[in-house]
Amino acid sequence: MKVTVVGAGAVGASCAEYIAIKDFASEVVLLDIKEGYAEGKAMDLMQTASLNGFDTKITGSTSDYSKTAGSDIAVITSGIPRKPGMTREELIGINAGIVKSVSASLVEHSPNVILIVVSNPMDTMTYLTHKVTGLPKNRIIGMGGALDSARFKYRLAEALGAPISDVDGMVIGGHSDKGMVPLTRLATRNSVPASEFLSEERLQQVLEDTKVGGATLTKLLGTSAWYAPGAAVSGLVQAIACDQKKIFPCSTLLEGEYGLSDLCIGVPVVLGRNGIEKIVEINLSDAEKAHLEESAAGVKKTNALLDA
Ligand code: LAC
Repeated sequence: MKVTVVGAGAVGASCAEYIAIKDFASEVVLLDIKEGYAEGKAMDLMQTASLNGFDTKITGSTSDYSKTAGSDIAVITSGIPRKPGMTREELIGINAGIVKSVSASLVEHSPNVILIVVSNPMDTMTYLTHKVTGLPKNRIIGMGGALDSARFKYRLAEALGAPISDVDGMVIGGHSDKGMVPLTRLATRNSVPASEFLSEERLQQVLEDTKVGGATLTKLLGTSAWYAPGAAVSGLVQAIACDQKKIFPCSTLLEGEYGLSDLCIGVPVVLGRNGIEKIVEINLSDAEKAHLEESAAGVKKTNALLDA
């Protein structure tokens, strides 16, 4: 199992680290346009191998895509991250150009690759990747919902005063502060609905805190988060590499599912060796449906900027 991670910045490096620590891939190739950076990160990570007990071989290269040849999975994290006060949508101008050339180069060297898009605005970048590469829809996956759901579970556990392992919940919709749709109705503590323990107001607060999970961090750190995004990506990569058939909310091209089409947006999918093996259509309440439709309209508005 060979995995390429493009962009050795904070998210890319943390993603490579989590993949290595889980020790399921034989090889991780890091690429970064900053001279020497990916090589340096790869070397630093390899020097943790004996300490963390993994055999994954990590190498780095500046922009030699021939080193990525034969990748089974490639993660695109390249582009600029947001600064405090910025929305993910504001990154579109610079990141669209980068994602276009990166995805084309990846597919040129690894025609069978499964792509995971992380660069923001993620749903639009995932859609762009479809347009550029023409790969079948099961092989293009946008990472947002796995991260947003992890942030949701963190806030839920905090509100419930429960250990995170006792809590379950999922966020669908667009990966943007306004577009996220945390499914509070379906959130549970050890299979008991969270609403049995929390008031409507407290659940609403959990929902609001989840939506600005990334923005809150960006304000504190001065730049976008990396541990949780890296861990979320590594979860998707592992589900594919190990053919786990796990359900994650991921951004995927919809063609009528959930009454939506011609966009990529977060919905539950089954991830296995073939990438997105199934889009899972769950019954949403009228309010959830309305939120998802509103979110989709927001994503389409951002997609329209690609042609501008
Ligand atoms: C975040 C970035 C990865 O939400 O979009 O932290």
